[in-house]
Amino acid sequence: MKKHIDLVVGARPNFMKAAPLVAELGRHPDHFSPRLIHTGQHYDHNLSQMFFEQLKMPRPDIFLGVGSGTHAEQTAKIMLGLEQEFMKNRPDFVIVFGDVNSTLATAIVAAKLDIRLGHVESGLRSFDNTMPEEINRIVTDRLSDLLFVSEKSGLENLEAEGIHKDKVFFTGNIMIDSLINNYEVAGQSDILSKLSLSPKEYVAMTLHRPANVDNKEIFEGLLTVINKIGERIPIIFPCHPRARKNLEEFGLLNNVNPGALKLIDPLGYLDFLKLQSEARFILTDSGGIQEESTYLNIPCITMRNNTERPITVEIGSNIITGVDSKKVLEAANQILEGRGKKGRIPDLWDGKTAERIVAILLQKL
Ligand code: UD1
Repeated sequence: MKKHIDLVVGARPNFMKAAPLVAELGRHPDHFSPRLIHTGQHYDHNLSQMFFEQLKMPRPDIFLGVGSGTHAEQTAKIMLGLEQEFMKNRPDFVIVFGDVNSTLATAIVAAKLDIRLGHVESGLRSFDNTMPEEINRIVTDRLSDLLFVSEKSGLENLEAEGIHKDKVFFTGNIMIDSLINNYEVAGQSDILSKLSLSPKEYVAMTLHRPANVDNKEIFEGLLTVINKIGERIPIIFPCHPRARKNLEEFGLLNNVNPGALKLIDPLGYLDFLKLQSEARFILTDSGGIQEESTYLNIPCITMRNNTERPITVEIGSNIITGVDSKKVLEAANQILEGRGKKGRIPDLWDGKTAERIVAILLQKL
């Protein structure tokens, strides 16, 4: 009998993780009947719809349209919408991705309705409970029946938390499936010429973590060091709405030296992949970009005190500097002097993660 599987996505970093699995499930029409649900956590065209188009994902079957709000508001709205949907049309299995509020809300609803749950990108831990994502990861993993792990630290973390190893599968990094699938098309992006950039002569930056951009002093301190780096090599900053809003509210727009730091609107998946892959290095506080830069072997400076993705530091091209200006500057100078960190590609980051997950679903469901 065909299994009815609901895949739930909500925010930008979910979409590139879901796309390969949606495609792979579609290759088994006799076994699976998948349904794509979008919570609407992200709703701006260039944080949401553009990704669906570029990743060639089908339009969501269901759109909950929850929008923004406090954590409780957003999580609760997703829970209310999903509960109704699951009760009306009960799936056999639900799959969630990553660590956003949509992931957590879905996990709680599925578990309470006794619907089996799979978590893709399971086991990552920053051990920093001030990050909303850490709470989302811990709860989702605790409630999941099948846990698909992207790097070996995930296996260790889940074991330490007492999660039975029969539920845990090291399937690799599904985001790298998307990167590999789209690398050639992204190569044709004209984003460099649009921004008048030459390969290796600029830095690509993202910055949107609440810990960095919701705090005026920290944001201001980061801008100072970023301007300094930008005096040596221009920095391109596709600016997340959260960061943009706070730049305005904190009155920090004047602290941006336009000759050093260029603010642009958030980019689509293909343009950003091109921007990353040709950059001299990456400055970020994002999770996924630490992994993409490791795969691309581009030096990455992560302006956070920790990472839930330690493999990117152990064998990848990532360095953790925190928000200490001296450390950020030192890391940037090292790269500019040709002493940037080189890395290797971690195990099972090979473009076949979706295949491995579907093979397990065929066996287990
Ligand atoms: C969310 C994820 C974060 C992820 C990030 C990537 C959680 C807890 N956080 O953070 O892990 O790295 O997405 O983008 O789920 N906004 C818009 N347009 C949108 C969406 C949001 O303008 O389409 C603005 C709103 O002002 C909103 C704010 O951004 O209040 C924050 O959005 P939210 O979805 O709460 O969290 P992100 O910061 O995007």
